[in-house]
Amino acid sequence: MSQPAAHIRAFFDEPTNTVSYLVWDPATKRGAVIDPVLDWDNRSGTADVAFADRILAAADEEAVAIDWVLETHAHADHLTAAPYIKARTGAPIGIGEHIRQVQAIFRPMFQAEDLKPGGGDFDRLFADGERFALGSLEVEVIHTPGHTPACIAYRIGEDVFVGDTLFMHDYGTARADFPGGDARTLFRSMKRLLALPPDTRLWMCHDYKAPGRDSYAWQSTVAEQRAHNPHVKDGVTEEEFVAFRTARDATLAAPLLLLPAIQVNIRAGRFPPAESNGVRYLLVPVTTRKADTLA
Ligand SMILES: [Fe+2]
Repeated sequence: MSQPAAHIRAFFDEPTNTVSYLVWDPATKRGAVIDPVLDWDNRSGTADVAFADRILAAADEEAVAIDWVLETHAHADHLTAAPYIKARTGAPIGIGEHIRQVQAIFRPMFQAEDLKPGGGDFDRLFADGERFALGSLEVEVIHTPGHTPACIAYRIGEDVFVGDTLFMHDYGTARADFPGGDARTLFRSMKRLLALPPDTRLWMCHDYKAPGRDSYAWQSTVAEQRAHNPHVKDGVTEEEFVAFRTARDATLAAPLLLLPAIQVNIRAGRFPPAESNGVRYLLVPVTTRKADTLA
C-alpha cells in the first residue's frame, strides 16, 4: 500500500442514516462521489437535490473534479442522486456487475420493461478484483455479496468503503434477507474484508448510533471490528452468525423507502418513464395475506 492516502469528506443524511462520501486524490484533485443520497419526501413524492448539492459544493471548495459516481450496491433505504451528480459533472456511474442479478429479481416485480439489457443503465459494471484509476490513486473493487448479491467495496490504499457489508464495530451488521441476500455469504464477505491489515480504515454507508453512543460515527478499522463487533468479531463462528442473523432478520420490518428506492436504484437513479399524462409514477405492488378480502 505505497500510494498516498486519499482525502475523504463524509456527508451524513440523517433522514436515511446514510453516509455519502467525497473522496479524492490530493495530488491530482480528481475525485469520486460514493453513494450519494437524493432527498426524497415519501409523503408527497417529491425529490430534491439539496444534499447532493452539499457534496458538489464541497468538491468545488476543494477544487476537486468528479470523475466517478460509485455505488456500493442498489440501496433499499434511500434513493440515489447518482444521475444528478452525473448530469452536473459528466462522471460515469459505476456499480458491481452482479447488479444484473438484482435487476433480474426486481424487473418483473416492478414491470421495469424500460431497463436496458445487460446492466446498461449503469455506465460501468465492476468485477471482483478490478482496478481503476482515481487520479494517481488506484481503486480496487472487492465483491462482497450477502446483504445483496451485487454489493462491492472500494479499496483505495488503506481506506475501504464497505457499503452495507459492515456497520460500526459497536453496532453490528446489515440484514441479509433481501431477495438474493444470504447470511452465510455475508459472513464470508465480512471475513474477507476483516482479513485486510488491522489498521485499514473502514468507511460505513450507514449509522444508527449504537446504544450508549450519542453521536453518529461511520469510520472504523479492521482491528476494531475484529475486537468488538458483536456479530462478527474474532471467535464468532459462521454457524453462530447465520443463526443469529436469520433469527434477527425475521423480526425486521421492510425499510421505509424500500419500494421507491429499489425501483429507482435498479435504474441507476432514473425514475420510471412518464405515463401518457406526462407524470412519472412509482409502483406499490400489493400483496395480501387473505386474498379473498380483496374485491
Ligand atoms: Fe443497503
